Amino acid sequence: MSSTDHSTRQPVPSTDDVRIDAAAAPKAAEATTNRRVDTTFDKFHDRYSVRTLGLKTSPVRALFSVANRPEVVSLAGGMPNIADLPLDVVGESLKELIDTRGAVVMQYGSGQGEPEIREHICEVMAAEGLIADPDNVTVTCGSQQGLDLVTRIFCNPGDVIMAESPSYVGALNTFTSYQAEVIHVDMDDEGLVPESLREKVTAARRDGKSVKFLYTIPNHSNPSGISQSTQRRREILAVTDELDLLVVEDNPYGLLNLDGDPLPTLKSMDPENVIYLGSFSKTFAPGFRVGWMLAPSFVRSKLVLAQESATLCPPVFSQFAISSYLTHWDWRGQVRSFIDMYRVRRDTMLASLAEHMPEGTTWTRPSGGFFVWLTMPGAVDSAAMLPRAVTKLVAYTPGTAFYSDGRGQRNIRLSFCYPTPERIKVGVERLAGVMRDELDIAETFQLGDGRRHVRDLGPGPDLA
Ligand SMILES: Cc1ncc(COP(=O)(O)O)c(C=O)c1O
Repeated sequence: MSSTDHSTRQPVPSTDDVRIDAAAAPKAAEATTNRRVDTTFDKFHDRYSVRTLGLKTSPVRALFSVANRPEVVSLAGGMPNIADLPLDVVGESLKELIDTRGAVVMQYGSGQGEPEIREHICEVMAAEGLIADPDNVTVTCGSQQGLDLVTRIFCNPGDVIMAESPSYVGALNTFTSYQAEVIHVDMDDEGLVPESLREKVTAARRDGKSVKFLYTIPNHSNPSGISQSTQRRREILAVTDELDLLVVEDNPYGLLNLDGDPLPTLKSMDPENVIYLGSFSKTFAPGFRVGWMLAPSFVRSKLVLAQESATLCPPVFSQFAISSYLTHWDWRGQVRSFIDMYRVRRDTMLASLAEHMPEGTTWTRPSGGFFVWLTMPGAVDSAAMLPRAVTKLVAYTPGTAFYSDGRGQRNIRLSFCYPTPERIKVGVERLAGVMRDELDIAETFQLGDGRRHVRDLGPGPDLA
């Protein structure tokens, strides 16, 4: 930036300086009235787009530096435990890649992704019973970018996306960033409830809203851990077919079924109406940032254009690195060993919850993936409880992160993927202690729900 730029630029008032001037032109008055009048140190605040101001920080990030201390057991994040990966094999194959194909693997590549990895991706999907043509695969920077591209090509501000309740926070943030409205669909033990989907889509359309797609995580959902039964999948697809509603299936955990074979994908059951998102983050390693989308061909060509405008091409070196890993290593055996490791952690968490949780607490029993969804008894707010939990050396993710409508206050997402079984036991026991204290306080002081105190507190000082 040149010094001339500085000298000609007008000072930007902080929002503290904003004065509402009723005599000013109506347009200016409108702009001024709509401004926030709180304190901010960001002098660019007034220049951000509306969609940027809608982005939220994670409730855990604020506590990150504290929650990340080794003495705190974090049941919050969703980091896969990749310590068991064969780092020597990965290292050798990366060296071989550079030695033999360095000039290719470090070059720009195809916007759709390299043909070699698209073939490998089809082998990975076949392990779940999903047979696909590499031509219909688009490589992404993790499935998170798949969510971004799919929203970008379909959604105008104000459009509606249907999502489970609760749903993945990263997807909700993406939808918000495109100013889409999320309507949550009810769930039960078998996943999304088809009647609720029909009812809510019909109501939204009656209100003149444009419902663009259903976003769903059918397997071992983040955050609920719930999986749709095969019969439920059929029923959901019958409703989406009846409503002519596109389905976006997000499936990063499908191969991590801890209790049996992978369940059939929605994409395999309705190829023409489902966009499928996959990822190497949970079955190999998230750091390469490679995921993919499998979409009907017209949609695929739009996704490739969107990918080109976002990144020119997904990271070429990462794609070759993953191809090489899949070629040189028994990746199916590696997934089986991940499954055995995660099963022990899941079972440890479920047993610890049964042993320690206060009466009335309920939780899901996931058949795979990384997460358990807990519902606390009583009027306890999980977000307000978090700082107190961290001081007792345990962290979790509050349930409100997974709703776009403020629900989830009594819920907590617990992840069993990263901490060792010993740490999981300690973390759950600490959390149960924090919840007991909180429930005790709630029972003693809160009358907000209209109920009377159940406890006889005795006469107060004024009455004695
Ligand atoms: C349901 C779901 N979708 C998408 C993602 C993003 O994964 P990635 O971008 O690493 O592939 C995650 C990550 O936790 C997830 O849980």
